[in-house]
Amino acid sequence: MKAVVINDFGKPSKFSLTKLSTRELKPGELKINVKATSVNPVDTKVRSGQAEAFAPEFPAVLHGDVAGIVEEAYEGSPFQKGDEVYACAGGVKGLDGALREQMIVDQKLVARKPERLSMKEAAALPLVSITAWEALVDRMNVQPGQSVLIHGATGGVGHIAIQLAKSLGAIVYTTASTSEKMKIGQDLGADYAINYKETTVEEYVKQYTDGKGFDAVFDTVGGGNMEKAFQAVRNGGQVACIVGSGEHDMTPLYVKSATYHGVLMLIPMLTNEGREHHGEILTSVARMVDHGVLKPVLDEESFTFSTIAEAHNRLESGKTIGKIVAENDLSQL
Ligand SMILES: NC(=O)c1ccc[n+]([C@@H]2O[C@H](COP(=O)([O-])OP(=O)(O)OC[C@H]3O[C@@H](n4cnc5c(N)ncnc54)[C@H](OP(=O)(O)O)[C@@H]3O)[C@@H](O)[C@H]2O)c1
Repeated sequence: MKAVVINDFGKPSKFSLTKLSTRELKPGELKINVKATSVNPVDTKVRSGQAEAFAPEFPAVLHGDVAGIVEEAYEGSPFQKGDEVYACAGGVKGLDGALREQMIVDQKLVARKPERLSMKEAAALPLVSITAWEALVDRMNVQPGQSVLIHGATGGVGHIAIQLAKSLGAIVYTTASTSEKMKIGQDLGADYAINYKETTVEEYVKQYTDGKGFDAVFDTVGGGNMEKAFQAVRNGGQVACIVGSGEHDMTPLYVKSATYHGVLMLIPMLTNEGREHHGEILTSVARMVDHGVLKPVLDEESFTFSTIAEAHNRLESGKTIGKIVAENDLSQL
């Protein structure tokens, strides 16, 4: 079977086409004919060696997000041949990635794909939707009427988080670097958009919360932005962060008696703990998509598996709006 692999960490030029053998299914597994994947920052970080701790063995098949059609299901599975499914199910230590013709996955991580989306659109959703869900629903338990600040309006995670927070009944605030991106955030449902290059945290906390701070803040950026998230939360409020690197002073949270939530959505894949919940989240997300309350935004540039290096370059350029997707063209090569 054809696959795109890396044999070493480094630049996107490290991707190469190869042939890999397949294997028999084990109980609880599905074989999926891969139709599309999307690029997430964890894929570029694993490829470059920045996230070596999460990397699969060489030759490594990267990419967690997959949309495709079930080719084979182990006896007794709730899925059957021909089902259209989507998942974030591999591309990390111990698990097959999606950049191949067929991917063997744990069925607990899988859900039926939203009916109204193409394979390409569906592949954009799994990793970012699970992340937004874990932060806003599982950890911060966002309630109707709460003020929720979401950093990164047009980022992969941010653009889904806006829609999810809105569907939970929150008053949603979001940050972006340009007026075009602010408008996209508002079109997705944010009540207010803030240009983070032109407005200080102190200014927008004063303008929107009378200086008190937001009930919940979702930092999808990390680095220096985490301090901004700590500054923006109210006394007794909550902050969820998805980027763990760097050193940060927690005093600003302590003096507000605010709660910090660290979210790492890879844990079920890496440890085999809590995988059912990811399948359940994706089932709920598919329902939301089919009811018209959530949709992926795709970047204006799209790619194929044979141009995956360019897809990684595009994500790393920082010019992306929404998600970068790649369709599987390996059978034509
Ligand atoms: N822990 C987890 O489970 C988990 C899950 C998913 C993602 N992540 C991590 O979360 C991060 C975001 O992922 P993503 O898929 O959303 O990435 P992305 O699509 O590249 O989006 C990045 C977002 O960050 C914003 N941004 C960049 N620099 C900024 C700055 N200095 N101040 C404020 N905003 C800034 C961008 O906004 P502008 O374009 O307007 O600047 C953009 O909206 C990545 O580091 C990824 O590895 C972690």
